[in-house]
Amino acid sequence: MSTTYRIAPSILSADFARLGDEVKSVIAAGADWIHFDVMDNHYVPNLTFGPMICQALKPHAHTATGVAVPIDVHLMISPVDALAASFAEAGADLISFHPDASAHVHRSVQAIKSKGVKAGLVFNPAESLDVLEWTIDDIDLILIMSVNPGFGGQSFIDSALRKVEQARKWIDRSGRDIRLEVDGGIKADNIRRVADAGADTFVAGSAIFGNPDYKAVIDQMRVALA
Ligand code: DX5
Ligand code: ZN
Repeated sequence: MSTTYRIAPSILSADFARLGDEVKSVIAAGADWIHFDVMDNHYVPNLTFGPMICQALKPHAHTATGVAVPIDVHLMISPVDALAASFAEAGADLISFHPDASAHVHRSVQAIKSKGVKAGLVFNPAESLDVLEWTIDDIDLILIMSVNPGFGGQSFIDSALRKVEQARKWIDRSGRDIRLEVDGGIKADNIRRVADAGADTFVAGSAIFGNPDYKAVIDQMRVALA
């Protein structure tokens, strides 16, 4: 069975003065998901955008033919639950959080799913996957960080590949439909290695928004994945 790969441009590297247009442009260029990085200047040393911006962008998150493009919210915030609920109401399609940012990981997953939103867990470069033993039956997405969270434009950390391999084993053993996403330092020239380790969904911020031709970059990524 062939894998359906998804490319999720991170609007962290977009032009914030023109965010709606940036979302439209990157969808026209072939984005499968819109990756939305939420930072609170507490869990990570940076501050970005909240649910109101998500809500404002939601009407733009569709293709020219009207097909909805999922908004993939990556919460780098602590605590998790109150804002996760706000993002569910603001139109998020997937909400992921870092297990170490929630006092009650299982409860946070349940709270997200109770809103009809897909739930994901995010693992930092130095964090093990142990919590999956108790959550794999409930989640829809595993997000492996290949940089430390907080900033775009960092270099890919190679040990993430081993963790992607481990996560793939967890998913295969579970028999469930769980996306395996990788975030940080992904470019057209390393995306194939990440896919070979078992990932099926790829976040890319600076690689896409740092080039004036978004479609050219996304096309190069698809060629590398083909
Ligand atoms: C980092 C964010 C990433 C970031 C990736 O904390 O979670 O999504 O936008 O940026 P690049 O692709 O530039 O490494
Ligand atoms: Zn992210």
